[in-house]
Amino acid sequence: MEWKQSYYDIYGENENTDLRYNQLLDIIKKAKTDRPSWLVEQDKLGNDWYLSEKMVGMMLYVDRFCNDLYEMEKKIDYFVELGITYVHFMPLLKSREGNNDGGYAVSDYLNVEPRLGNMKQLQKIVKMLKQKGIRTCIDFVLNHTAKEHIWAQECKKGNKDFENMYFMFDDDTIPKEYEKTMTEIFPEVAPKNFTYYDDIKKYVMTRFYEFQWDLNYANPQVFNKIVEVLLTLANKGIDIFRLDAIPYMWKEVGTNCMNHVNVHTLLKMMYSIIQEVCPSVVFLGEAIIEPKEIVKYFGDKEQKECNVMYNASLMVLLWNSIATRDVRLMERSLSKKYDVPKDAAWINYARCHDDIGWGFEQDILREIGFDPEAHKQFMIQFMLGKYPGSFSVGELYEFNPVTLDARNSGTFASMCGLEQALNEKHQYKIELALKRILLLNSIIISYTGIPLLYSGDEIGQLNDWSYKTHKDIAGDSRWLHRGSMNWEAAKKRFDLSTIEAKIFYGIKKMIDIRKGCKFFRSDIQSIPIDMGNKAVFGFHKEDKMIMLANFSEQEQWVDTYRFNWFGLKEELTDVITERKINLNDNQILLGPYEYLWLM
Ligand code: GLC
Repeated sequence: MEWKQSYYDIYGENENTDLRYNQLLDIIKKAKTDRPSWLVEQDKLGNDWYLSEKMVGMMLYVDRFCNDLYEMEKKIDYFVELGITYVHFMPLLKSREGNNDGGYAVSDYLNVEPRLGNMKQLQKIVKMLKQKGIRTCIDFVLNHTAKEHIWAQECKKGNKDFENMYFMFDDDTIPKEYEKTMTEIFPEVAPKNFTYYDDIKKYVMTRFYEFQWDLNYANPQVFNKIVEVLLTLANKGIDIFRLDAIPYMWKEVGTNCMNHVNVHTLLKMMYSIIQEVCPSVVFLGEAIIEPKEIVKYFGDKEQKECNVMYNASLMVLLWNSIATRDVRLMERSLSKKYDVPKDAAWINYARCHDDIGWGFEQDILREIGFDPEAHKQFMIQFMLGKYPGSFSVGELYEFNPVTLDARNSGTFASMCGLEQALNEKHQYKIELALKRILLLNSIIISYTGIPLLYSGDEIGQLNDWSYKTHKDIAGDSRWLHRGSMNWEAAKKRFDLSTIEAKIFYGIKKMIDIRKGCKFFRSDIQSIPIDMGNKAVFGFHKEDKMIMLANFSEQEQWVDTYRFNWFGLKEELTDVITERKINLNDNQILLGPYEYLWLM
């Protein structure tokens, strides 16, 4: 087996490694035998389906969307109506009671959270979705488990077989060493990276919340057990695994414990294993870090790691452009070339269940005359809604009163100005907010990659301030944008004069166009164009399709020579509105927040 060498490289040549390696072979063999025949059939087609222009995702919390997986049966037509072809169920495996970080503290990987249903019902949903051409994605939280997980419990008891599956220390000598270089993830709600437990008299590594115990991948037993779980779930018919928080998987004293080279080795081994057992499965990696590190998670020429990664850069650049009415940072950052395999795909999104952190390319910011620190403060205050003239309504996340650093929370629509406009009953502001919402959607649906909508955003749901009354989550402002799906509001989509309908059908139309055109495949690149107008973002695909987007509320002129290159037809049509553009006209006028998909 090709990954045997890697296994021994990481775990060393010794008896324990021999033992674990052989156990892993048995796990793989068993999973292959257990793979149901309908999935074996599916496997024959491989996994490059994720590159298709037909891919459009929606992510949701099952309970907030429709209570449970039984009710989900009735919602499948809603996905079909909008044109969704993959649904990402946010953590739905059994998690600890009380605060569980939105399900990211798994207490049992092989069972569904009882409130939501059970494994049998999940499998039923997977099959029902598949019949409608919709793939299923689930979260696979593999960096940590809940402290209540059986592995943690056994480890705590000193059971030999579970020894060292977590990071436990009798005193704080080693934890202190780690802390010297480890970054904090939740500095406000869960500072530091270790927790002392009186009952067991031990320090345990808890990088996220205290109740999320970090798995120790330096122990081959952890890798084996995780692979076993992964393959078992794959055999239930899951198509996409969202590998949660992968940069943190390998911890080593003296490093920041992020993006360690061994994380890449672990992922490469996992990918080879799924290729062996369930080759139709796709890995979606979650690594919200700087671009040059993100791209490494696609793997290298020898071995793939993840097929798809979140395009966190595009996400922050979109919000930056909408706040500043200046697309230069976006245009230049996206023009930067990274070494990305041809079959690598991005998930393009504007909002998800998490906060927005303002990681920009600092040198480009300076190049266009922005001071990085001051600009970050501007973004924080703008999205919060405190900057004079801001249209956004949101909250701070993880605010640090000493450095003033923070991230931001808020829904797509509220951050685009809809909440403020509705509060003020200001018709013109409502129009502008709607335009911003559709504009951002127009980029995530057309730019190279897979568009991902966060449930509720397709009808413009506003911030949900009620989380402040629930004690477990009141301290975590990410719940501001995790409100329950308002099905009453969703019904309004049938009345075309409503806000809900304008957003829903605006998005649907773009999805329909996308699905009917090969230019939207994930292996066809988008190349940004310098439009010579800082409010207008432009890009093209294969010199044939031109996208223009005005990121300001003012009309903007653009010179057609910027994209009037050889071979392009004289007359282009905006496929969304049928508007005709004649390239012999030297300039074209874009209305406030107008976007054109020219073919
Ligand atoms: C990921 C999730 C986030 C969660 C964290 C810990 O970053 O997106 O919501 O808090 O992992 O599991």
